Amino acid sequence: MNPELQMFVQNELNTLREQNTYKERRYLESEQGPRAILNGKRVVMLCTNNYLGLANHPRVKEKAIQAVKDYGCGTASVPEVCGLTDLHAELCRRVAAFSNTEDALLYSSCSTANMGVVGALAGEGDVIISDQYNHASIIDGCRLSKARTVVFPHNDMNRLEQVLRDESSARLRMIVVDGVFSMEGDAAPLDQIVSLAEKYHAFTVVDESHAAGVLGARGAGTVEHYRLQGKVDVLTGTFGKALGGAGGGYACASREVIDYLYHRSRTFIFSNTMPPSVIATALAALDVLAEEPQLLKKLWENERYFRSRLEATGLKVGGGEAAILPILIGDHQKAYALSRALLEEGVFITAVGFPVVAKGQARLRAQVSAAHTKEDLDAVTIIQDTAAKLGII
Ligand SMILES: Cc1ncc(COP(=O)(O)O)c(C=O)c1O
Repeated sequence: MNPELQMFVQNELNTLREQNTYKERRYLESEQGPRAILNGKRVVMLCTNNYLGLANHPRVKEKAIQAVKDYGCGTASVPEVCGLTDLHAELCRRVAAFSNTEDALLYSSCSTANMGVVGALAGEGDVIISDQYNHASIIDGCRLSKARTVVFPHNDMNRLEQVLRDESSARLRMIVVDGVFSMEGDAAPLDQIVSLAEKYHAFTVVDESHAAGVLGARGAGTVEHYRLQGKVDVLTGTFGKALGGAGGGYACASREVIDYLYHRSRTFIFSNTMPPSVIATALAALDVLAEEPQLLKKLWENERYFRSRLEATGLKVGGGEAAILPILIGDHQKAYALSRALLEEGVFITAVGFPVVAKGQARLRAQVSAAHTKEDLDAVTIIQDTAAKLGII
């Protein structure tokens, strides 16, 4: 081991420990359900992206197993070398129809989709206009692109318009936002963003990761929620949250944009593709979502119940437009202490602090699922008692 490297990483890790941002690894020893076993402890899981409980749905599991039997474990190559399977083609058709677009391209994750889309669709002479709170993979996409990036304050439409006015000479203007912001639990004002994009001849890229399977009448995401089908140029999303939870990502757009990404999107071209079991999981999740609309209804019932009980504790709760309920603590040490104490009591809610959110804005990020029972959500009593013991409320 190179001693300079060893010294460098040790110093960096020591700094993380001093700043109390060093993270212990956590391991699930059960399914990722509303109740789970985490590092040997039984917990109520209140920070799961498994919004509809589909990661453990019997039909979804069955389809994944069958796909391994039919197609094996994977294609063992990048798409260009040995091609994709007809399962890939089917999922492209299904996710494009789900998103109301002409076509789709599958990526190994939404992170790689964001990097591959943003990196490919904006280049030299273009400008990327990006919300301050966009997901890290969008930021990485901006870094990969040769375009200039201008960041606007979170959901600030006046500033977005100002930037669009200032950037009128750019060859292409891309506005890129998360549909639902994962740390805030709020949605982008897509109706206003689309109007501004039309006014200033910009195109739009929206990441539906926390919205697909959650928002909109059919659970198709933020675009459906705002009834803007056909008005957003590119949608990206993940199959690693509500839509089966096994991973994999997508980009949905017009036939021509998808064809261009097929030829130019580096994270698609130079990386292995979604394995058959994961594709089958996503296909089955889309089936269940369409056939069991009561899941979406239950998710929102649970969100309303949990939010009202949580707000009644006196804790400050953010969001309100998604199934993410950030418990806003502020002080970093207090947020992490609350998360640790809750885990001791059998309630798991992750704490997030700097650098994931700004300094002084540490929070616990609670999420609800359709799979939670009322009894699971009544863990709010433990949250209240624990927060009171720690002097937070
Ligand atoms: C908004 C957003 N986009 C993308 C991702 C990444 O998705 P994936 O796990 O498929 O890479 C996440 C996951 O945390 C996310 O919150």
